[in-house]
This record gives sequence, C-alpha cells and structure tokens, in this order.
Amino acid sequence: MRTLRDIPALRETLGDARRRGDRVALVPTMGNLHEGHLALVAAARQRAEVVVATIFVNPLQFGPGEDLDAYPRTLAEDQARLEAAGCDLLFTPDTDTLYPRGLEAQTRIVVPEVTEGLCGASRPGHFDGVSTVVGMLFNLVQPDLACFGEKDYQQLAVIRRLVADLHLPIEILGVPIVRAEDGLALSSRNGYLSAEQRRIAPRLYVTLCKLRDTLESGGDTSASLEHGWADLKQAGFDPDYLELRAADLGPVIPSTREAILLAAARLGPTRLIDNLALTLP
Ligand code: PAJ
Repeated sequence: MRTLRDIPALRETLGDARRRGDRVALVPTMGNLHEGHLALVAAARQRAEVVVATIFVNPLQFGPGEDLDAYPRTLAEDQARLEAAGCDLLFTPDTDTLYPRGLEAQTRIVVPEVTEGLCGASRPGHFDGVSTVVGMLFNLVQPDLACFGEKDYQQLAVIRRLVADLHLPIEILGVPIVRAEDGLALSSRNGYLSAEQRRIAPRLYVTLCKLRDTLESGGDTSASLEHGWADLKQAGFDPDYLELRAADLGPVIPSTREAILLAAARLGPTRLIDNLALTLP
C-alpha cells in the first residue's frame, strides 16, 4: 500500500489506474481505524480494482469546544490495518493541503433538508464541513464507488443527497454498523470512555432494540420514545435526541413502513450515536 500526502502525487497515481480502466473505490475516514472502518474497506475491495482510503481529521466539521485536538491520531497502526485489509492507496493530506486559504476562506457545500434536526441541530455547521470535505475528496479521487457506514446514518443521507444534487457519477454504498459483542457500535470515540462508562454504553443499543420491538408490535410512538428517553437517563446518559423517522429521514406518516430509530446521548463528555432500522406495522 502506498501512502500519499499531496495532491499531484494522488492525481498521477490515480491517472495510471484510470488509464488501465480500473474501477476505483473510495473509503473516507478520520483514522483511528477499527473493525467498522475495515468493513468499509472490505466492501470496497470486493467491488473495485483500486481501493483508496483517506485519513483526514477534518477541522471544518468540528464545532468550537468539540474534540478536534483530542481526536485520536494513530497513523502507523492505521497504515498496518489498511494494508492487511487490502487497501491499495492511502491519502492522508495536511490541513494546509486541503484548505490552503484557511478554513474561513473555504468554499463550502451546503446540503439542505436532510441536515436539519438530529445531529444537524446539536452540531451547527458540522454537516457543511462533512459535505465540503467529502465533495473535495470525490473531486480529487473521482471514484466510481464510495463506501460509508450506516452508523452515521444522517451523514450517509447527506452524502446521497450531495451526489444526487451535484449529478456526480458515484455509486454510494451504505455498510451496516459493526458492533462490539455487547452491542455497542464501534467508534473511535469509544476510546474516551472510562471503564464504568464503557459498561453503561451498550445500554444505548439495548434501549433502541427494546423500542424497535415495542414499535414493531404496534406500541404508541410518543409514549415509547418517552420510555426510551427515561431508560437512557436512568442508565446514566444525558440524551441529546431519540427520534423515529422514515428511512429517508422524512417524517413518519401513516403509510410509513420502513423507519429508523436514531439516538445521540452523552456519557460524561463523550457523545455516542446509534440507530436501528425497523418495520412499522
Ligand atoms: P469516521 O468517523 O472516521 O468514519 C469513517 C467511516 O466509517 C464513516 O462512513 C462511518 O460511518 C464509518 N463507520 C464508523 N464506525 C462504524 C461502525 N461501527 N460500523 C460501520 N461503519 C462505521 O465519518 C467520518 O469519519 C467523517 O465524517 C468523514 C466521512 C471521513 C468526513 O470527514
């Protein structure tokens, strides 16, 4: 696996692949890779000749007071994991490479509607930062396929909308959430949890599972969500949101069948997110 840090080298290497007619898949990440990220690489590996991963802790998507500086940076371990997973090329640029005129001066991509509410409400500007960097990576790599985790369900919806609205010829593949044995969705932020918090953390998934079962058997939505909220508080979380939406993140209407439960909750300073699909009766 080759590691590239600058844009001309990336363009040159990918130009060679494209002239060969190879199919190129992109897996964007912020590093500190775990089995969730590697599932995206595996999915890409199955579908393309050239697998490109990126590691870039994108300052544009972190709000003031968020964990930009503390975000774990583990490049050597990440390179070894990517190589073992069959990644061909790692692009890991500096901030100055992607944003040479600084963050304030950066042209942005702003996706409407699907960015409203959920994480968009509690992290203002976050999705503008995500769509801007992902749009830039799409332009730099020009992949045929790009893989994103369903763990960040709203992010996946934002990327699908971006690709549709800008008419980008890129297939977006959503990859199911990879969980620890106790159900906790793998996340680079799980490393912030104390032993006690790590013991509590799987209750987020337990709460979603319980809610799914209740709603699938016809339970009242608002009463069930209130119970779920109370369960999270009882377990020691400070819940941010717990919502039922249609699978496309639109509102649930009487004809909605495919739906999604989405939650974000803090355990101490750490913000965890999770989601679970369900079929309404
Ligand atoms: P990051 O949090 O590093 O996640 C990179 C990709 O891995 C995302 O598509 C995310 O949904 C996926 N992922 C993370 N944990 C997962 C899990 N347990 N199971 C399945 N997939 C998982 O998301 C970002 O980085 C950034 O916002 C990025 C898209 C790279 C833009 O900066």
